[in-house]
Amino acid sequence: MSETPVNDNRLTVLDHSRLRAKAAKPGAERGHISVRDVDIVFETTTGPHAAVKNANLTVRPGEFICLLGPSGCGKSTLMNSIAGFVPPTSGEVTIDGDLVTEPGPDRGMVFQQHSLFPWKTVKENVAFGPLMAGVGQNEATSVARTFLSLVGLAAFENAYPNTLSGGMQQRVGIARALANYPSVLLMDEPFGALDAQTRVMMQENLLEIWSEFRNTVVFVTHDIDEAVFLSDRIVVMSASPGRIIADINVKLPRPREQSLLTSPEFMALKRQCLDLIRQETLNAFQQQNKAG
Ligand SMILES: Nc1ncnc2c1ncn2[C@@H]1O[C@H](COP(=O)(O)OP(=O)(O)O)[C@@H](O)[C@H]1O
Ligand SMILES: [Mg+2]
Repeated sequence: MSETPVNDNRLTVLDHSRLRAKAAKPGAERGHISVRDVDIVFETTTGPHAAVKNANLTVRPGEFICLLGPSGCGKSTLMNSIAGFVPPTSGEVTIDGDLVTEPGPDRGMVFQQHSLFPWKTVKENVAFGPLMAGVGQNEATSVARTFLSLVGLAAFENAYPNTLSGGMQQRVGIARALANYPSVLLMDEPFGALDAQTRVMMQENLLEIWSEFRNTVVFVTHDIDEAVFLSDRIVVMSASPGRIIADINVKLPRPREQSLLTSPEFMALKRQCLDLIRQETLNAFQQQNKAG
């Protein structure tokens, strides 16, 4: 199925303030993530397996960061500890000062494999979170429509997920995650399975939406272009066991559009990431040679 342009039928008047206020802790700063001295070790049949080593990371409210690193380096594991799915073996994760011990509605998740309910329509999928949070049916439907408009899928509210393209399903996933007004949006390679052109469109649409809501975003990717294009900061992880080896400020102006991808400033940041990852890969290779 062909993609519809994003942001068709976009709502011009959005009144999110009431729902957003409902989701907020009164008077509290929202979306401040703190990862302190986190080690994550999995027990496997062949013994303990260190996935994340000594991770320290602070993400300020409203910041957009990317976790960048090679496949298998522990990005998803670190993100899942922020989500509350994987407990740190040692160290701690807090959000707005509260220790993370389980998943919660303050954190919205978007995965690479869309995880929509196939038996529910697009609108019902997005309305599900607000309904679970105790919002009435009419209001939940109206919230769902608002967010479907934001991702350009207003015309598809009664469609079932399996009739949509991969890109469209991911847009539903983003709408669904946002419909709970989370203070933190956790995205694990959400555009990884999409073709290059759809991917850039999705990135632009995501930035547009984020500029409106300013949630804190932690976005996992192994794609350097994607990390530079999207983020305020790129947190680079080493090969397994994942350590944080660099924290790069991305001072590219916003709003960002596709034309940025060929600018000298973009290229320079890309180069910096490439050099880091190349050096890291060489180090890992030399270690393996020594060990072998
Ligand atoms: N539940 C688990 N049990 C055992 N090992 C795991 C588990 N989850 C991930 N791993 C291992 O931890 C390492 C990091 O995995 P992951 O965080 O998925 O990497 P990434 O997301 O960077 O590709 C990998 O070696 C992976 O095989
Ligand atoms: Mg992963």
